[in-house]
Amino acid sequence: MSPQFCGVRKNNAWSPIPTNYYIYPPGGVLVASAAYDAFAEQYADRVPTDLDSSLTVEGLATRHLLVALGDVKGQDVLDLGCGEGHVARRLAVSGGKVTGLDLSSELLRIARQRSSGIEYVCGDAQDLQSFRDSCFDLVYSNLALMDIPDLVGTYRAVRRVLRPTRRFVFTLVHPCFCAPGGDVLTDEDGRFLARTVARYTEEGFWRSDGVGTVRSTVGAHHRRVSTYVNELLAVGFNLRRLVEPTLPPADYARASAQCYSKIPPVLLVEAVRD
Ligand SMILES: C[S@@+](CC[C@H](N)C(=O)[O-])C[C@H]1O[C@@H](n2cnc3c(N)ncnc32)[C@H](O)[C@@H]1O
Repeated sequence: MSPQFCGVRKNNAWSPIPTNYYIYPPGGVLVASAAYDAFAEQYADRVPTDLDSSLTVEGLATRHLLVALGDVKGQDVLDLGCGEGHVARRLAVSGGKVTGLDLSSELLRIARQRSSGIEYVCGDAQDLQSFRDSCFDLVYSNLALMDIPDLVGTYRAVRRVLRPTRRFVFTLVHPCFCAPGGDVLTDEDGRFLARTVARYTEEGFWRSDGVGTVRSTVGAHHRRVSTYVNELLAVGFNLRRLVEPTLPPADYARASAQCYSKIPPVLLVEAVRD
């Protein structure tokens, strides 16, 4: 399916620019792929090192995820889609018994180089075949569920490996605002004006415009918030809370940070297994 064109107000002028999406038919792409293998070095360089000062989506998501996870000392913890393992490392330092699972053997190679004392498993979040039932006290996932085609299969697998009444906490690039066909509008000085949302209701796989960005390289599975939440409830989780983190108000130089201080780029979901 080729990209379509429409008029978008950018830099205070209306001009025809390509919208940054194409969507495969719902259900058309359900095969997991280790898409991050070819992108592993670049992705591994993006992870936030100084969490307190980070103004990126990754920094914001990780900061709020760690607050939501709380004290994990002595707990059996699974990091679903762990990437190069920066969250797993932080939790291991605070005493969690962390296992990192990812489909990308290249990211896991970097993860193993960057830490010891964490078990890393190459596998698919959609079935979690390497793990027996009820073996974790906590499962979390940072910015990975939109990379995974089979959401319901993943939820079922997470529920199976979690002990009863234990938590599943995950962050997403916010599905309402970072959706196919959306854009960030700026004025002539490059200051943030608005974020547009064009095709929120169309669920499916999409790839953004651009070169070298995460979503232009590996794409993402767009789903509505109601899909994420209702499917979670349907497989046997109870919703504990949603968090929509923003950057604190400040005079940020970059338009992206100005945007993130007004519109949450991340959605955090905290659920409990029945
Ligand atoms: C955006 S990255 C986030 C990585 C890491 N959680 C972080 O915070 O840096 C998404 C990760 O999900 C992994 N992934 C995608 N599909 C997967 C699957 N089916 N099973 C396990 N991991 C998967 C990718 O390989 C990638 O490492």
